[in-house]
Amino acid sequence: MKKTSLITRAVSLFATGFIFVSVTVLLGSCNGLGNSSGEVDSTKGLKDYYEDYFLIGVAVSPRSLEGEQAELIKKHFNSLTAENVMKPGPIHPEKDNYNWADADKIVEFAQANGMKVRGHTLCWHSQTAQWMYQDSLGNLLPKEEALANLKDHITDVVTRYKGKIYGWDVLNEIVVDDPDPAKVYRETSPWYKVAGKEFIPLVFQWAHEADPDAVLFYNDYNTENPVKRDKIYNMLKELLDAGVPVHAVGLQGHWKLNDPTEENLRASIDKFASLGLDVQVTELDINVNLGREDPDSTFTPEREQKQIDQYKMVFNVFREKKDVITGITFWNVSDRGSWLDRRGKKAYPLLFDENLQPKKAYWEVIKF
Ligand code: XIL
Repeated sequence: MKKTSLITRAVSLFATGFIFVSVTVLLGSCNGLGNSSGEVDSTKGLKDYYEDYFLIGVAVSPRSLEGEQAELIKKHFNSLTAENVMKPGPIHPEKDNYNWADADKIVEFAQANGMKVRGHTLCWHSQTAQWMYQDSLGNLLPKEEALANLKDHITDVVTRYKGKIYGWDVLNEIVVDDPDPAKVYRETSPWYKVAGKEFIPLVFQWAHEADPDAVLFYNDYNTENPVKRDKIYNMLKELLDAGVPVHAVGLQGHWKLNDPTEENLRASIDKFASLGLDVQVTELDINVNLGREDPDSTFTPEREQKQIDQYKMVFNVFREKKDVITGITFWNVSDRGSWLDRRGKKAYPLLFDENLQPKKAYWEVIKF
């Protein structure tokens, strides 16, 4: 074929593509205004747009796996996290009593629908099982006894889901927000009270022994704050230098309209990745409320726009850093119910609205 006709073909292909993309985007934004019938490719979900990038997950309750929410979940997500039912308190309320049913339901749903599961979480100061570290009078157990309980817990849970849960948030939120760089650990955590920082490498080792193939995460919030970022980095470096099996960092991603900044987000991902660790955003939501003092609970056009801008910004960064980012998980399914909602004050933090329809922010997130 002659060079000129090649160019003509290329130009016409480009023009066709351009028109197709424009129509797609136009229809997409109409849809974002609330009319879901106009969706361009109604079979495509968030996970499909991000197929070549990273997993797209969502935190669920067993109840959300039924009815219309289940359909939304199947369409848009390829990874599940249990919002609550795998935490130590809910899953292991007494020494000889495990509640497997709820956790099993999530794992079974994932398997039936070809989704992955991230385990959340094996060791945390909150929603934990008190019997593991204190006696019936509330006194701390001797260190050896408490650690043996924790080891049994981690071993049992990880073993049960071996091969079905690909990665675990082994340790959650052990680093404090204190602006003093010298104050690193959450000393009020029962596990810190029991064993100081000695339990930290152990929990990773126990999880690794139970499932050597599982990706083991340290998971925390406010990871974009430069002071906290450094504390977490130093802790992880110390663990890695000592040969502790930590493989990834979870940035929870409970964000706001003005937080994090692009600069801080990039800096955190880069800094953790420089340790050779994978990075995931494990609990993404962008709260439109500005904080405790904010009396307004409405989703005003101004807040909507700021949320769109923030979602666009963070997903641009995620895509750019796809070599180190292995998953993005949203914390809850839609604005119908978020853990951030307070009485009379909703957070509107997700990509789907109260009617489970994609919000404008959704169309921006898939536009690339
Ligand atoms: C939250 C759940 O969403 C709520 O339903 C529960 O009442 C409290 O915990 N960081 C975490 C998650 O690691 O486990 C928390 O989930 C949100 C903050």
